[in-house]
Amino acid sequence: MDFYEVLKNRRSFRGFDSSRAIPQKSLENIMQAVQCAPSACNRQPWRFVIVFNGELRKKIGSCYPKPWLLEAPAIVVAMADYSTCWTRLEGTPAAEIDMGIAMEHLVLAAAAEGLGTCWICAFEKAKLNEIMQVSQPWCVEAITPLGYANSDPRALKYKDLEEIFTVIK
Ligand SMILES: Cc1cc2nc3c(=O)[nH]c(=O)nc-3n(C[C@H](O)[C@H](O)[C@H](O)COP(=O)(O)O)c2cc1C
Repeated sequence: MDFYEVLKNRRSFRGFDSSRAIPQKSLENIMQAVQCAPSACNRQPWRFVIVFNGELRKKIGSCYPKPWLLEAPAIVVAMADYSTCWTRLEGTPAAEIDMGIAMEHLVLAAAAEGLGTCWICAFEKAKLNEIMQVSQPWCVEAITPLGYANSDPRALKYKDLEEIFTVIK
């Protein structure tokens, strides 16, 4: 798929075909897409856990109880490392930005593979950190279901380009 088509086809999907497995090759392509994500000072302060295990997925689902999350054959849990990340001149860590870029690489690569995802941040964070056995300086920042979507994405309206860009010549 052409890169710009991938960008347009990437949507948040909230319904998945539980019976369709994720091909190993797609998984490898997605992992390699994450591997080459940029990060401040190339610190790569992230880790992604791809959970196929049903029991653990159920526990993750208890932190974000929408039925469609568990329809997908996998849930990806993205975590950031606040100890090794680059820190801005003002002292704030860049870990969440870095993790977000890598996560979006994952999401776009999934779209290129014909797979659906949905960024999720509205989960119970402390509970999910505990379930994933993650503690400071690491923190779970986002999750996504990963699988073949069987639902239409929600209708949406994008801001006009003029609202997004200021072009100064
Ligand atoms: C940082 C972030 C957090 C999000 N958290 C959630 C969430 O908790 N639940 C959800 O259903 N969608 C979530 N979304 C998906 C957005 O609602 C979605 O990206 C937006 O409405 C645009 O739709 P699209 O992704 O289909 O283009 C999140 C997206 C981002 C980027």
